[in-house]
Amino acid sequence: MKTALIILAAGKGTRMNSDLPKVLHPIAGEPLMIHAIEAGATLEPDRSVVVAGQNATQVHDTALAHDMSIKVVEQVEQLGTAHAVAQARAALTGFDGMALVLYGDTPFIRASTLERMRDALAQSDVVILGFEATVPGRYGRLVMNGDTLEKIVEYKDATDAERAITLCNSGVVACDATLLFDLIDAVGNDNAAGEYYLTDIVGLARARGLSATAVTCDEWETVGINSRAELAQAEAAFQVRARAALLEDGVTLTAPETVFLARDTAIGRDTLVEPNVVFGPGVTVESGATIRAFSHLEGCHVSRGSTVGPYARLRPGAELAENVRIGNFVEIKNAQVAEGAKVNHLSYIGDATIGAGANIGAGTITCNYDGVMKHHTDIGAGAFIGSNTMLVAPVTIGAGALTGSGSVITSDVEPDALALARAPQVEKPGMARKLFEMLKAKKARQQRGS
Ligand code: UD1
Ligand code: CA
Repeated sequence: MKTALIILAAGKGTRMNSDLPKVLHPIAGEPLMIHAIEAGATLEPDRSVVVAGQNATQVHDTALAHDMSIKVVEQVEQLGTAHAVAQARAALTGFDGMALVLYGDTPFIRASTLERMRDALAQSDVVILGFEATVPGRYGRLVMNGDTLEKIVEYKDATDAERAITLCNSGVVACDATLLFDLIDAVGNDNAAGEYYLTDIVGLARARGLSATAVTCDEWETVGINSRAELAQAEAAFQVRARAALLEDGVTLTAPETVFLARDTAIGRDTLVEPNVVFGPGVTVESGATIRAFSHLEGCHVSRGSTVGPYARLRPGAELAENVRIGNFVEIKNAQVAEGAKVNHLSYIGDATIGAGANIGAGTITCNYDGVMKHHTDIGAGAFIGSNTMLVAPVTIGAGALTGSGSVITSDVEPDALALARAPQVEKPGMARKLFEMLKAKKARQQRGS
């Protein structure tokens, strides 16, 4: 079955007290909206439509930076959830299949839950995601009759008996797209809020003799974010679950509560992560690696047996092969470091390839940026880069070559050659003593006030 995602993201988010649209506030380093899109991505949607409101351009740019194929449509006035879904109609012209409605401010719906909804759609015309609420509060209530969902009543419109129902509406809807838009055409706004409720499609479907049912999930999956306090709580809850999942998968976290993870952090079994490590988006670490304390990693790959840190920074495009050592105060960006290579102290390696077994001395820097463009540095296998070498890119150091400490290397070095590019040492016997005597005499004259 083909799938289209419709992500509602037009709400004003007033309680965030922010210039940034609510759905662009981050959890685990990524906008809320991206979490929702990625949960839906597991169903391999053929189309995705984001319904944006105010500051639609910011939402548009973020969505397209994530996935060029996403369509962003604008809901100028927020007249309710049914009205929001209706804005996606034009973007889905010609689409035939399941429409899945998600909220952009609800980041934790599991992919497996969405798969269960898709499966349930084989038996039912409309499928709603419900949950047993500990505090049902102002959620819409699911009025069930056996396995049949008869209708959803919004809290504002509910009777006392209906308010006593604890099975609540998460907001996620699965329905054949053509039927969904057909039902939405029939939704009015004659209710307590004066809004076009998406939830009305259930009663409308039942009145036409169509079937509706509810799939249920854990309450935490349905958490929506409305304020900074809720954002902070959701972040904390996300981290607790992500750490627990890694421990379960056989990763050692010495102090789990100090390790921060992203939605897609992938770490192999028997890897050790020391305290105070931050993982940004896009990190994969293979089995048996060690990430030492106070390191920061994003958009990088660390292979089996490698050691990173303490105090290391791996930026996007850092690719470490097996048994690589990256030590303290080393930054690696957009660079492939081959097997067994070492960059142990105080270095910046950017836009580079480092050959197998090469040793990069303390304080070495790839001077990759000329102020306008970035340039590449290529270091051959087994090369030995002396401490404090400046490698002015573009430059190639051949395999097995050696650069003298303190060299500023501006042209290519042949394999197995020794390159020295520093001022020769000059020595003047007794000169230090003479210089100090002269300076001391000068100071004494000044103190006498002459
Ligand atoms: C909605 C549901 C309610 C459910 C609850 C779960 C309706 C009528 N009610 O209520 O049954 O229990 O969510 O959280 O659907 N949005 C737009 N455009 C609009 C209105 C809303 O894009 O015109 C977006 C919001 O940004 C938000 C989502 O839709 O992401 C839900 O809207 P919200 O106003 O929060 O709905 P609730 O009243 O909470
Ligand atoms: Ca809400």
